[in-house]
Amino acid sequence: MSFAFKAEQQKRFKALLKQYPDKRSAALPVLHLAQEQEGYLSTEIIETLAGMLDITPASLMDTVSFYTMFHTKPRGKYLLQVCQTLSCSLAGADQLVDHLEHKFHIQVGETTEDGKFTLLKVECLGSCGTAPVVQINDDYYERVSKEKLKRVLEKLP
Ligand code: FES
Repeated sequence: MSFAFKAEQQKRFKALLKQYPDKRSAALPVLHLAQEQEGYLSTEIIETLAGMLDITPASLMDTVSFYTMFHTKPRGKYLLQVCQTLSCSLAGADQLVDHLEHKFHIQVGETTEDGKFTLLKVECLGSCGTAPVVQINDDYYERVSKEKLKRVLEKLP
């Protein structure tokens, strides 16, 4: 299936290109835009975007693989990102990951069969003083315990 921006995203794409003197400089916001539309960045999407930005597909793939916020596989409705860096690790993040793997019968990087949850371990989320931190889609949850996580997950539609 070929990739193209939908009308709204196409407008935003054109507006983004105007903000940069060089198309290639718009790579990060354009990748975000494509991921927002499609949910993830397939090889085909990356190749199409590379053509639009006058970048080689390999170079754009390097950018995608460098940043943990970009996803190259379909992900669940809810992306559970557990910080694995030192403060969170010491405060129990590893136990939260074990708990989620056991609860959902998935490993880190996998999505539940119903397509609802994808579990990832990520680097510092920038809130080390309130460790352990879990980000669910765009929302941060701080000082997360198993009990708190249970309550949060139960409230998700
Ligand atoms: S170490 Fe987890 S938010 Fe910084």
